[in-house]
This record gives sequence, C-alpha cells and structure tokens, in this order.
Amino acid sequence: MHIINITGGKKLGGEISVSGAKNSIVGIMPAAILCDEDVNIYNVPSLSDVENLKTILEYLNVNVEIKEDYMRIIPNNMTNKPINSELSKKLRASYYFMGSLLGKYGHVEISFPGGCVIGARPIDLHLKGFKALGAKITEDGDTMIIEADELIGTNIYLDFASVGATINLMLAAVKAKGKTIIENAAKEPEIVNVATFLNNMGARISGAGTNRIKIEGVDYLHSCFHEVIPDRIEAGTFVVLGAALSDNLKVKNLIPEHINSLLEKLREMGVGLEVGPDYVIVSKPEHYNPVDIQTLVYPGFPTDLQQILASLMVLADGTSTIDETIYENRFQNLYELVKMGARIKVEGERGYIYGPTKLKGTTVMATDLRAGAALVIAGLIADGQTEIQNADYILRGYENIVEKLSNIGATIVLK
Ligand code: EPZ
Repeated sequence: MHIINITGGKKLGGEISVSGAKNSIVGIMPAAILCDEDVNIYNVPSLSDVENLKTILEYLNVNVEIKEDYMRIIPNNMTNKPINSELSKKLRASYYFMGSLLGKYGHVEISFPGGCVIGARPIDLHLKGFKALGAKITEDGDTMIIEADELIGTNIYLDFASVGATINLMLAAVKAKGKTIIENAAKEPEIVNVATFLNNMGARISGAGTNRIKIEGVDYLHSCFHEVIPDRIEAGTFVVLGAALSDNLKVKNLIPEHINSLLEKLREMGVGLEVGPDYVIVSKPEHYNPVDIQTLVYPGFPTDLQQILASLMVLADGTSTIDETIYENRFQNLYELVKMGARIKVEGERGYIYGPTKLKGTTVMATDLRAGAALVIAGLIADGQTEIQNADYILRGYENIVEKLSNIGATIVLK
C-alpha cells in the first residue's frame, strides 16, 4: 500500500484543474458494451478504478485504447463470461456490468461488487428492478446469475433514490422491449452524463436529472463521441482546500451548479468565493463560522464531501455538526483527526466538531477514498509532518493528486 507524506502549515495558491468525473466514467465504461459499434470518450480521468474496469472489459475481449484523456472502446468481438470476485471486488462500479450484460445478452454471471466500507451497501434495489423487467436471479454464495429470455419494459419505483440502481436499471432497459419508467430515480449529474452517453448512441432516454426517467427500448446502438463531466467531488475537495489554506486559489474546469450546496455552506462559514462560468476563486477568511450540514441525495449536500468539510470545520469558532443520512459508517476520518488533536464527538448519525483547534501532524490511516482526501487536507493544515497510510484509497478517485497539489505550493510526496 502507498503512503503519502505531507509537511503542513504552508499557504497555497495559483490554479488547479479538475479532471473528469470518476462516478461518471465508471458507469460509462460498462455501458459501452451495449453499443454495437465503437465509442469515443473524452476527458477520461486516469484512476485505478478506470484501470480495473479496463481489465474487466479486456477480460470480456473488448478492445480498449487509451491516449491521455481519450478512450476508445470497441466491443464488436466481445464474449459474455462470468465475472469472478477477483475482478468484481476491485471496485463498486463492477455492478454496472449486471445491467449492461443483462441488457445485451439476457444473461450475466457476476460476483458481488467491492467498494469503500462506509456502510452495508446492499444492492437489493438493483435486483428488484431487474426482476421487474422480467429477469430471474439465482444466488450461489457470492455469485449471482441474472437471466431473462426477454426484458420487458415496465414501471419501477425505487424505495430509495439510489445512484447505482438508477444507472443499472437504465442500462438494462435501453434495449428492453417497450417502455420503462423509473420513479423516484436519483438525480445526480453523473446519471445525466451516463444517460447522455446512451442517447448519443441512439438510446431513447428522457427525464434524466429528474426523479422520473423514461426509457423507450431500442434494438441497435451506434458509434458515438462523448465527454465526461468534471468531477464535482474533486472540485469540492479543492475548493475546501483553498478555503483552508489560500488567499486566492482558482479551481478551474468545474460546473459551479454541481457544488452549489457546498458553496452555500462555505459562504455561511465566511469563506470568500468568486464564482465564474467554469471556475471558483476561493479565499480563506480571518475567522470561520461553525456550520451544520445534513447529507442528502442530489441536489442536497453530498455525502462524498462531508468528510472533506469536516477537516475545515476543525478551524471554526464553535461547534459544527454533520448529520450523515446516506451511510451508516462514514465518520472514521473523525477518529483519525483526533490523533491530530481535533476535538470531536459522534452520536449515532451525528458528528460534532469542536473548534477552533490547531492540528498537529502525525501518522493516520485512510479508511476509504473520501476519508483519505479529508486527511490530505488535514495534513496540509496541520503543523509538522503527517503520514497517511493506505493512500491507495485516495488514488482511486483523485487523478495525479500529488502533482496537482505540489503545483499550488504543497509539500507532499507519494511513497
Ligand atoms: C454512488 O454509490 C457513488 N459511487 C458513491 O460515491 C456515493 O457516495 C453514492 O452514490 C451516493 O451519492 C459511485 O458512483 C461508484 P447509492 P452507490 O446506491 O451507487 C442504499 C465515492 O466516494 N442502497 O445511491 O453505491 C446504500 O446502502 C463513492 O466516490 C440500498 O439500500 O450509492 C446507501 O446507504 C462512495 N439498496 C444508499 O442507498 C440498494 O440497492 C445510497 O446508495 C442500493 C443502495
């Protein structure tokens, strides 16, 4: 496992650019096999999750060419083979091969997905939706066989607006017979980006980005060109970093609306923000006001940014709180912050962060992707040296993070 070493307490400044969205490309790559020709994708981030999906595609005899941030996927000679746990456990998004292989072949054999341990993370809503489309599901230990002679479009109501279930059911329904309606669908921007990708290939999806998505099944999907949206979680991470350590940091190549809930909370904290069409210039205040946040589905405050904002809340004059409503176990970073001197309390789904507190560098452990990013921010804020163990988690979701942060003045090394 890699380690990240940081010397903290330095002012940062200049410009930092946001890469393509992890949670979009990890849906687009499995979706590409539904195409009957090749697809061309731009603004592809170089991440270990992308590498792991490329491995699965090549295992299915799909040709994948990558040149910088351009990716070409050619599924013409692919074969449908069981995806074992060694492949599926590398990342959560391997579950998108359920929808795409079922949609293409009416048969998929796959092991349960991997992903960050931040809660139970069941996939019951995905499976319930596949059954509604006419699939039969057999579970054999860690492996599922999902099959259907024919998928028939229908109405599916999601008990919870799950991102993964919404995308997976879209993948299964694009080539199903007739019309499918997903009610209480998730509205995250990545869902819109995946739906746009499918429509660029000739799918007939409407309503993505709302809680009611309609899909008219088609027989054939043709070649296309598509661009991955900027990563709003990476953007939010850099804006929070600027709010902690810069008088003037320009975070560019982002879509401000996608992080509006965060920008509102930073304004409440007293942070200076200049918002442009595709950038945010952020400057730290003399003093930070404490804030209360509650994580919600989009466009509410994203659960993927709560750990990151917690590292800034440590600097506030008073008590901030975080109500985590999406996952049952996403406060592990707070206990790592305590090792750096932070004062916190966790009661059920609520975390309390008492400030202001001066952080001191020490050895901490990344327990998941966003917890790792939160510790990078804490390490850059802290006095002295910080060593972050299990840094591979961070590399799963942040492209060239050490290089990007070094370019704005951070002292950070990956070992
Ligand atoms: C996606 O995960 C993201 N991952 C997560 O980002 C993100 O935290 C999450 O959406 C919420 O925004 C990817 O896109 C690869 P969900 P996903 O299905 O699809 C429960 C990151 O840091 N649920 O919306 O797994 C589930 O347990 C990652 O980049 C069921 O109960 O999220 C959770 O509590 C971490 N049954 C809640 O819903 C189901 O069948 C939200 O899950 C599905 C979900």
